[in-house]
Amino acid sequence: MFSNRLYSPLRYPGGKAPFAPFIAKIMETNGVTGGHYLEPYAGGAGVALDLLFHGHASHIHINDADPAVYAFWVAVTKHSTELLDLLESTPITIEEWFRWRTILREDCVASLVEKGFATLFMNRTNRSGILKAGVIGGKSQNGNYKLDARFKKDVVASRIREIARRQSDISVYREDSLRLLNRCSDFLPKQSLIYLDPHTTLRERGCIEITTSMMTTRPLPKSFNRRSSNGLGLFLMTTRKKFVPCIA
Ligand SMILES: C[S@@+](CC[C@H](N)C(=O)[O-])C[C@H]1O[C@@H](n2cnc3c(N)ncnc32)[C@H](O)[C@@H]1O
Repeated sequence: MFSNRLYSPLRYPGGKAPFAPFIAKIMETNGVTGGHYLEPYAGGAGVALDLLFHGHASHIHINDADPAVYAFWVAVTKHSTELLDLLESTPITIEEWFRWRTILREDCVASLVEKGFATLFMNRTNRSGILKAGVIGGKSQNGNYKLDARFKKDVVASRIREIARRQSDISVYREDSLRLLNRCSDFLPKQSLIYLDPHTTLRERGCIEITTSMMTTRPLPKSFNRRSSNGLGLFLMTTRKKFVPCIA
């Protein structure tokens, strides 16, 4: 149950978009198809977008604590015209790479849309899409691949347009995951799926404990460690003010 459909404008190493059909099946098995979907560690949000575009979720909630990732998702969902203008007018050159890196590092004043575009620019021109990694082809651009090797403007632009069309079905947050999980029952309907895909090290350390009403940073119960060891993260459904582990 894998997919090679891609809807995210961002590249994410280890992104879970290929597993979207599997997650759709989990929604179906647990009777939450057509409900809301929350991803507290959203990154490229490939799963969320796939579920939305294929009708498995009617509303997606994207959260990421990284201000650069957050700026990108706000730019796409709230300021897509300005973002698309920047995309069209910015040449993919090493000079521009240095310029957008300065903005990403917050070494100069920039608008939220510019910060969002800086995230996109660095994500598409850096090795493995890592924001703090080096540029593809090196700073002297004498590698086999140049910095534009993974930056197909027309493909990225059409993904941004598709997402912008569904902006009213997408909520974007920049909160610590545990804080958001502790309050998400206030805005999620009963029919919801939460998918936790934290960074591997956080998962391996078993840093998240799930109780019926809240999340803390104490170790996971053994059953959840087993569940997360399949590398796919954790699936939770909300019921009123409670988290219930899903049948995967
Ligand atoms: C493994 S990536 C998620 C990848 C995503 N599932 C995908 O398929 O693209 C983890 C993401 O969680 C974010 N993150 C890390 N710690 C966080 C926290 N405490 N709260 C919210 N987001 C966090 C990181 O910025 C990163 O984008």
